[in-house]
Amino acid sequence: MIVTKYWKVDQGIGTEIGIELAEAAQLLRSGETVAFPTETVYGLGADATNTAAVEGIFTAKGRPSDNPLIVHIANVEQLSSLILSDRVSADHRQLMEVFWPGPLTIVLPVKTGGISPLVTAGLKTVGVRIPDHPVALQLLREAGLPIAAPSANSSGRPSPTLASHVRDDLDGRIGGIVDGGATGVGVESTVIELVGGELYILRPGGVTAEQLQSALPAIRIHEPERGEVQGAETPRAPGMKYTHYAPKGFMHIVQGEDAEAVAEWIQHDIDAAKTRGESTGILTFEERASRYHADLVIACGLLSQPETIAQDLYAALRQFDQEGIQYIAAEGCPETGIGLAIMNRLRKAAGHRLVRV
Ligand code: TXA
Ligand code: MG
Repeated sequence: MIVTKYWKVDQGIGTEIGIELAEAAQLLRSGETVAFPTETVYGLGADATNTAAVEGIFTAKGRPSDNPLIVHIANVEQLSSLILSDRVSADHRQLMEVFWPGPLTIVLPVKTGGISPLVTAGLKTVGVRIPDHPVALQLLREAGLPIAAPSANSSGRPSPTLASHVRDDLDGRIGGIVDGGATGVGVESTVIELVGGELYILRPGGVTAEQLQSALPAIRIHEPERGEVQGAETPRAPGMKYTHYAPKGFMHIVQGEDAEAVAEWIQHDIDAAKTRGESTGILTFEERASRYHADLVIACGLLSQPETIAQDLYAALRQFDQEGIQYIAAEGCPETGIGLAIMNRLRKAAGHRLVRV
C-alpha cells in the first residue's frame, strides 16, 4: 500500500496552472501513476517514455501485459516523437482536424525508441488521442510528456466516470487522483485504424460510425460485428477479447421490437429469480422504469437521448455490485449512433448472454 494523493480541481479551470495540477504533473514526471479525468472516462496516466512508470499502470490495474495502452498528448506537435510521421495520410489528418481534441483514438505506426515497448505490448502500432477535457489538457501540457493512460479501473471492472470509482478500485495502489468531477461522454474513445485506404473501428466509442463517415464521406468503414464474441483468433484491438465491465451477479440482456413483450418477459424472469431467493436488479431507461419491480431498478438515461445512457452506464453497473445484486436483467437499446458503443459494453458486461424476445 502507498498513500494515494488526492486533489480536487475545478472543471472550469482557467489558463493558470493551479498548485494541484502542478503537483500531479510533477508526480507523472517522476515516474508515478496519476488518475485524471478525460471527457470519456477517468484515465490512469504514467510517462509513456518510462518503462518502470508504465509497469506501474499494469501492476495497479492487474492488467494483462498483452493489452496495449492509449497514449495521450496535448497537441499534434507531440505526435512526431511517437509515430512515423511519413505514414500519416490525408485521411488521418482529416480525422485529427475534425475529432481532436475528442474521443477518437487513432492507431498509427509507432516510431522505435519514442515510447516504452510496454505501451504497445510489442505491436508495431500505437493508439494516440488528444482528450477534450480542460483538466486533462492542462495536466498533459504541464507534464510535457506523452502520457499512457488506460481507464483507471481495476482490470475487468467498469471504467470509472467519477473520482470515487477510481478510489474504490485503486486507492493505495497509485500515486494520485485528480478529481475533476463527472466525465462527459461516459464510454471510452472510439479506436480506429486506417488500413489500405479503409477505416476499421476496432472499438466503438464516443465518436460514432456516422460521424466518422461524414468526416470521410468517400471512405469504407468497417464496424465491429455486432454481438461478436471475441474468441481464439487475435482481435485487432487486443483489449476487446477480455471480459470487461461485468457485475458480480449474473446478468443478461433482453432485446426485442415489442417493448410490451420485452417488459413482460423481464418481469416474469425477475419474479422467477426472486422466487429462487436471489436478489434482483433491472437495468432499464427513464421512460420504462415505472413498469418494473425488483430489489433494484436502475433507470439508466433516456432512450430518446442515448448520450445520457452512455453517461450513466458504468455507474449503474457498479451500483449492482454495491447493492450485492445476484440476478440482473438489462434492456438493450438500438445500435445506432452512440448505441453501438453502449451495446458493445453491455454485451461484454453480460458475458454476451442476450435473449431475443
Ligand atoms: O477513452 C479512452 O480511450 C480511455 C481514456 C482514459 O482515454 N482510455 C481507455 O484505455 O479506454 P484502455 O486501455 O482501457 O483501452 C484501450 C483500448 C484497448 O481495447 C486496446 O486493446 C486498444 O485500445 N489499443 C490500444 N493500442 C492499440 C493498438 N496499437 N492497436 C490496436 N488496439 C489498441
Ligand atoms: Mg479499459
